[in-house]
Amino acid sequence: MNVIEVEGLTKYYGNFLAVDHIDFEVKKGEIFGFLGPNGAGKTTTIRMLTGILRPSEGKIRIFDMNLREKMLDIKERMGIVPEMANPYIDLTALQNLMLVGRLYGMKKGEIKERCVELLRLFGLYEKKDKKVRSFSKGLKQRLSLAMALLPDPVLLFLDEPTSGLDVMSARLIKRVIREENRKGKTIFMSTHNMADANELCSRIAIINHGRLVAIDTPEKLKKIGERHTVIELSLEPFKFDAERITSADRIELLGDKVKIYTRDADSVIKEIVDYAKKEDLKILSLTTEKPSLEDVFVYLVGDKSE
Ligand SMILES: Nc1ncnc2c1ncn2[C@@H]1O[C@H](COP(=O)(O)OP(=O)(O)O)[C@@H](O)[C@H]1O
Ligand SMILES: [Mg+2]
Repeated sequence: MNVIEVEGLTKYYGNFLAVDHIDFEVKKGEIFGFLGPNGAGKTTTIRMLTGILRPSEGKIRIFDMNLREKMLDIKERMGIVPEMANPYIDLTALQNLMLVGRLYGMKKGEIKERCVELLRLFGLYEKKDKKVRSFSKGLKQRLSLAMALLPDPVLLFLDEPTSGLDVMSARLIKRVIREENRKGKTIFMSTHNMADANELCSRIAIINHGRLVAIDTPEKLKKIGERHTVIELSLEPFKFDAERITSADRIELLGDKVKIYTRDADSVIKEIVDYAKKEDLKILSLTTEKPSLEDVFVYLVGDKSE
């Protein structure tokens, strides 16, 4: 069963096309990763899926209902952790949680119990009576996730949940995401971190410049890479003309090294040898590797040469 269905979803900011006719589905019980570099359109998409931003075009169905028609019914069952942690800084951690419970119309006893449980889970119990103003980014993000989980939503949206956090907070948050998923929650999370996506997600959609460039399991995405080879080259003296390597799909210059992505390693290596001979350059090293998931990501979102 699909929890989210999106068709032709599009967002213009003025004339600028931030999200460009994207289609995808999120199945019940998945951790669905929305992976892309900064400015790709991740936050814009999440804001549309959570009813904060109105799409310019396209359809959103959540729990098999039209989001625009059933906004309240749907929003009651979703939790949101926005890009910027959203607790009130003049309230304490506990007060923020209690407020969420009241907003959701939960019973007093039930709120108390749930607050204590969540404060403990997120290592915030000792700090429950401290104003959020004094919290680090990591603590604010933990509280933000605790607030989203308080009403026990069946669908959770997380916008870059571990971005810029200390190691402890990031690990704690990843553990909770995994546990909540195991308990049955469907999770939609955006990230620009390949390793997090690989570690947590059952499927990954890769977005770049507002367009989806791939949707698949991390394993299958790695398979896309298997048709490619990454060649690393170092020359002395260092001199490199990308135009001369015509069989490359993508070339990256990394200091005094060159990284070449190709589906035809044999031709690229012959071109390198020719080039080095003609220019009288010494080949210091030349290695070939199968791409990692990160290489696939770079390959899918990158330009041919930059
Ligand atoms: N309110 C806005 N007005 C105009 N442009 C925006 C606005 N919000 C985001 N953008 C632009 O839309 C693009 C996508 O932004 P965003 O969805 O925040 O990307 P991401 O979350 O993937 O980093 C970026 O180029 C960004 O500058
Ligand atoms: Mg963002």
